[in-house]
Amino acid sequence: MPTPSSQAFCASSIIGTGSYMPEKVLTNDDLSKIVDTSDEWITTRTGIRERRIAAEDQATSDMAAEAARRALADAGISAEEVNLIVVATVTPDMFFPSTACFVQKKIGATNAVCFDISAACSGFLYALQVARHFINTGNRSTALVIGAEKLSSLINWQDRNTCVLFGDGAGAVVIRRAEEETDAPGRVLSTVMGSDGNLADLLKVPGGGSACPITAENALSRPNTIHMEGRETFKHAVTRMCQASEQALEMAGLKKEDITLIIPHQANLRIIQAIADRLGLPHDKAFINLDKYGNTSAATIPVALDEANRAGRLKRGDILLLVAFGGGFTWASSVVRW
Ligand code: UT7
Repeated sequence: MPTPSSQAFCASSIIGTGSYMPEKVLTNDDLSKIVDTSDEWITTRTGIRERRIAAEDQATSDMAAEAARRALADAGISAEEVNLIVVATVTPDMFFPSTACFVQKKIGATNAVCFDISAACSGFLYALQVARHFINTGNRSTALVIGAEKLSSLINWQDRNTCVLFGDGAGAVVIRRAEEETDAPGRVLSTVMGSDGNLADLLKVPGGGSACPITAENALSRPNTIHMEGRETFKHAVTRMCQASEQALEMAGLKKEDITLIIPHQANLRIIQAIADRLGLPHDKAFINLDKYGNTSAATIPVALDEANRAGRLKRGDILLLVAFGGGFTWASSVVRW
């Protein structure tokens, strides 16, 4: 059963989507020149063929701002109409100010309250739920919810266990209160979230924070890069994403057969296929773009949603299942009626 913290809300609708991916492409073959790996291994084990890498002088907020501008254009509203910006990221421009404040400045959203959320790969769905709370209580009317990452800044390019998996990019949605109109398009029908800090050590960036500041002594062991127990993470990801999907569907009063399209976190094709199998759905019900971008953490779901939207794959009334899993561990799922 869904937990009490995951109660259903009403009347927040996605009215625009946008994304931005950096130009530079890093292929599996490129990586095989840096570490002991191969296109065959990466493709078979993950489904990833290439990923995008941000320019050195491109910060997370630069990508987030461009995704936001595109989402605003899609929604047909101005930046001044936005009164809340929530950015989900584990690669903020700096510890503070928040990346959301930099986005505000870059897009001119002068009327917005701005802050970041840290929930790793589940960050976008966490941010969506936080923004819904603000909107559904009447506190705010129009929010930009953004997932943006420059994971290349956290990668140890000597570690083949992790460097082949991740990439950079940003995705954004505009959400707005749907007033009395209960069948408004893009309506978020349900969201469930969960966390288990007991498993924090399985996926983390151990250094660079207050627990382990970077010093001249520890810098060479690269504690400020991603460390992951891949096999364990994989198992938990499948279990939690299936549970969360079922809970979000139940909360929305829908069944698995009602799903038109799954927009899953893009970490590993085998994880996505295992989820589809467990839900009893064909693999082609899941939107896939990890072959092009790899795992962009909080950005995967809004980028996939935007690509599905712009490719004309989303029709009015479609039932979308959004589902994510990441460091913490954290997990979340949302059902959206397009
Ligand atoms: O986004 C947040 C959530 N993240 C995830 O959900 C990721 C979950 N984990 C995974 O996707 C997979 O566990 C990985 C893709 C990370 C690894 O795949 P795996 O099938 O679990 O492989 P493994 O870690 O069990 O490693 C199998 C073998 C090992 O060699 P031995 O010990 O069998 O000789 C690894 O050393 O593959 C080796 N290996 C590689 N070989 C070539 C690991 N990385 C590579 C590599 N190229 N890049």
